[in-house]
Amino acid sequence: MALAAALAVAAVAVGLSWAAFALIRYELTHQLDLDLTQAATVAVQQHGDAPPSVLAGQCQYLAAPACAQVVPADPARDPHAPDDGYLLPVGPPVREVAAGTRAPYYTVTTVGGQPARMLVTRFRSGTALQVALRSDGVQRAVAQSAALMAALGAAGVLLAALLGWWVSRTGLRPVTRLTATVERITATRDPRHRITSHAAPGRRPDEITRLGDSFNTMLDALEQSVAAQRHLVADASHELRTPLTALRTNAELLARADRLTEAQRERAAGALGRQLRELTGMVNDLVELARDEEPQALVERFRLLPLVEHAVTAARGHWPGQEFTLTTAPGTGDALVEGIPARLSRLLANLLDNAAKFGAVGGEGGPVEVEVGYGPSGEALELSVRDHGPGIADEDLPHLFDRFYRAGTARSLPGSGLGLAMARQIARAHGADLVAESVPTTEGGGARLRLTGLVGHAPEGDQPGRRRPTIQ
Ligand SMILES: Nc1ncnc2c1ncn2[C@@H]1O[C@H](COP(=O)(O)OP(=O)(O)OP(=O)(O)O)[C@@H](O)[C@H]1O
Ligand SMILES: [Mg+2]
Repeated sequence: MALAAALAVAAVAVGLSWAAFALIRYELTHQLDLDLTQAATVAVQQHGDAPPSVLAGQCQYLAAPACAQVVPADPARDPHAPDDGYLLPVGPPVREVAAGTRAPYYTVTTVGGQPARMLVTRFRSGTALQVALRSDGVQRAVAQSAALMAALGAAGVLLAALLGWWVSRTGLRPVTRLTATVERITATRDPRHRITSHAAPGRRPDEITRLGDSFNTMLDALEQSVAAQRHLVADASHELRTPLTALRTNAELLARADRLTEAQRERAAGALGRQLRELTGMVNDLVELARDEEPQALVERFRLLPLVEHAVTAARGHWPGQEFTLTTAPGTGDALVEGIPARLSRLLANLLDNAAKFGAVGGEGGPVEVEVGYGPSGEALELSVRDHGPGIADEDLPHLFDRFYRAGTARSLPGSGLGLAMARQIARAHGADLVAESVPTTEGGGARLRLTGLVGHAPEGDQPGRRRPTIQ
């Protein structure tokens, strides 16, 4: 950019200097030609009847600035030999002008070793008048102006180089900053760096500033994603340690099986199997949680109610001692939602599993009540799962959806604390939200988990089936 800008300005500077020089040279020469014409006119007026000869007193070249002579057309009738007697050179073109076969012309010559400009024009019939003026002064002036213009042009080129460098530096400074930040991020792999914006407040940001802003936004997203992944890995490695230790203990115990009684061996083998299943479940959950977005190709529009019924039936199978009830508000039977059925089933299973597991804590609870209805807006579907267990303590509420979070009372029960984190992730991926609340003891106590804002679609006119994704 510096080179391009410098070249452009330099070309203009050189062009202008050259044009100025050409104009000065033309003006000086033109002035000399005017003087010659005038001298010729004077010579004609004063010596109109003089014979072909050097016009007396006029050709003392060094003494007088002008010099004139009359030359006949026919050399045979010339009283002077061409090389001798004339001060100004006489050649065939001069004779041709005298004879009238050539137009008057200006030329340059030397007289007495000095540069001169000469006009050859017709004098009387058959003779030509040669007038010369010394031109050393003019030549000096032209040379001086050439030197001056060359110096100006060179200064212009230098200035152009400086300007080009300055313009490119100022114009490209934000790009340099952007590049430096990108290079820093590449070198350190740390996405916390940001481009500092230097846009004046209140002024419209230029393209580079906007590019920097977009870059920062991209870095924000990247940083969040990297931080989330790091947390997940840190949490996972921490949480996997305990079950792995237990597994190893049991495995070591079984390795020395010969020293155990039959009953001890069976207990250890049973514990090992159970722990392995739990660990497998946990690793599977982790893998699902680590997956940031839902696979878009699986998004479809389907009826919600059969999916809920299916989930409740499955839960009854898993928890034979637990009663489950399903209540549906009018109009929800045909309501369609858009999403991935398998993922929503997973969400429901997690909620039902929790309700059955924690609802039974503290003795005989009550049924797990599942309700499908419409939210306050009347458009979005709402689904709630309520149990009659101990409910959720206020201090646990803000952390319930954190990965690996388990309330103190839940520690004795199986589980890894990933169920609700995954459930909320699935809910959010479907544009909905999952909230937990404790039911007041006046209403029977227990916990209620509500899936809100699940966008329903009126069944009429809509074709159920695969559609392009709306899932974020
Ligand atoms: N219905 C409920 N009643 C009371 N507490 C609950 C209920 N549901 C969840 N919790 C509390 O929230 C915690 C987190 O639930 P989450 O489902 O994430 O984990 P988990 O059920 O313990 O383990 P996992 O689901 O991974 O097997 C639970 O440990 C429990 O303390
Ligand atoms: Mg759970």
